[in-house]
Amino acid sequence: MSVLVFGSLNMDLVVQASRLPISGETLLGQQFDTICGGKGANQAVAVARQQVPTWMVGRVGADTFGHELRHAIAVAGVNVDAVHTDRNVHTGVAAITVGATGENQIVIVPGANGQVGEADLKRLKTLLTQVRLLLLQFEIPVSSVVEAARLAHAAGVTVILDPAPVHPFGAEQLYPHIAMLTPNQVEASQLVGLPVETIEQAEVAIARLRQKGVDTVVITLGDQGVLCGTPQEMFHVPAFPVSVVDTVAAGDAFNGGLAVALHDGKSLKDAIIWASATAAISVTQAGAQPSLPTRSQVATFLETV
Ligand code: RIB
Repeated sequence: MSVLVFGSLNMDLVVQASRLPISGETLLGQQFDTICGGKGANQAVAVARQQVPTWMVGRVGADTFGHELRHAIAVAGVNVDAVHTDRNVHTGVAAITVGATGENQIVIVPGANGQVGEADLKRLKTLLTQVRLLLLQFEIPVSSVVEAARLAHAAGVTVILDPAPVHPFGAEQLYPHIAMLTPNQVEASQLVGLPVETIEQAEVAIARLRQKGVDTVVITLGDQGVLCGTPQEMFHVPAFPVSVVDTVAAGDAFNGGLAVALHDGKSLKDAIIWASATAAISVTQAGAQPSLPTRSQVATFLETV
C-alpha cells in the first residue's frame, strides 16, 4: 500500500536577507536560489525519501520549472505518472524571503496548480485502491480538495488535511471526510477565531475543532512542540531543540513524517514524535525539498537526541 499526495508543485524563488522587509521597504539580499517546492510536492518527497511508496496527483506547466519539478520528485522516489503537464498555463511559483533567523514570508502564484480539477480527480480515483493514506493541503482549488477527501473517505482511505494556506470555509466542508487535521498555531487560530499562542489556548482550539466534527487534531506549536487531541485523550509532545536555519517546508516535513510513521503502523504518539523529528531535521537545512530527511537520518536523530 502507498501514500497519495494530491496537491501543488511550485518552483520556489528564494532570497536570503538579514531580516524580512517591512511594507514598502527595499532590502539588499545576500543570495538567490530556485528550489523545488510546493506543499503537495514537498509532502510527497518527505514520504518517498523515507522509502514509503508514494504517488503524487497534480499539475505543472509545459515549461522549464515544470520539467525540473517533475524530475526532482521522481528522483526522490515519487511516482509522477499522475502529474499532468498543462500546456495552457505556467508552473506554480512561490516568492520566498528567508531572514537570518530562519523566519520566512511566502507569496504563491498558483499557475497550473490552480487548474487542478475533474481530470485530476479521475486520476486520483483510479489510485485509491492502492492507497492507505491521502495527504491534502489548500494550494489547489478547494472544490477539488473537498471532492478528493470525499472520494478517499468513501474508499476507506485515511485522509490527513494540512489546512495551509488556511481556508476556513473549505476546511469546514472537509471535516466530515478527514481523520486528522494538522494546523500550525496560526492556522488553528484562523480556523477557530481565537488566539493560539500557548499550549492552553491550543487545548481550547482542539476542543472547538473536535466539536466541529474532526476526529483527531494535531496542532504544531513550533518550539512549544505539538499538542494532539483525539476522542480518547489530549497529549503534548515536546519540540526537539535544534538550531533553526530555515523553516520553509517544516510543516510539510511534519505531515510527511506523520504519514510515514502511520503507514509503518506506529501508535499516534510515536508517529507524532517521528513527524516532529522529521520536521526538526528539516529546519536545520536551507530550502524546501533539499531539507527533507531520509528514513535513516530520522532514525539516527531519534537515537542521538
Ligand atoms: O510549505 C512550504 C511551501 O509553501 C514552499 O515550498 C512553497 O512552494 C509554498 O508552497
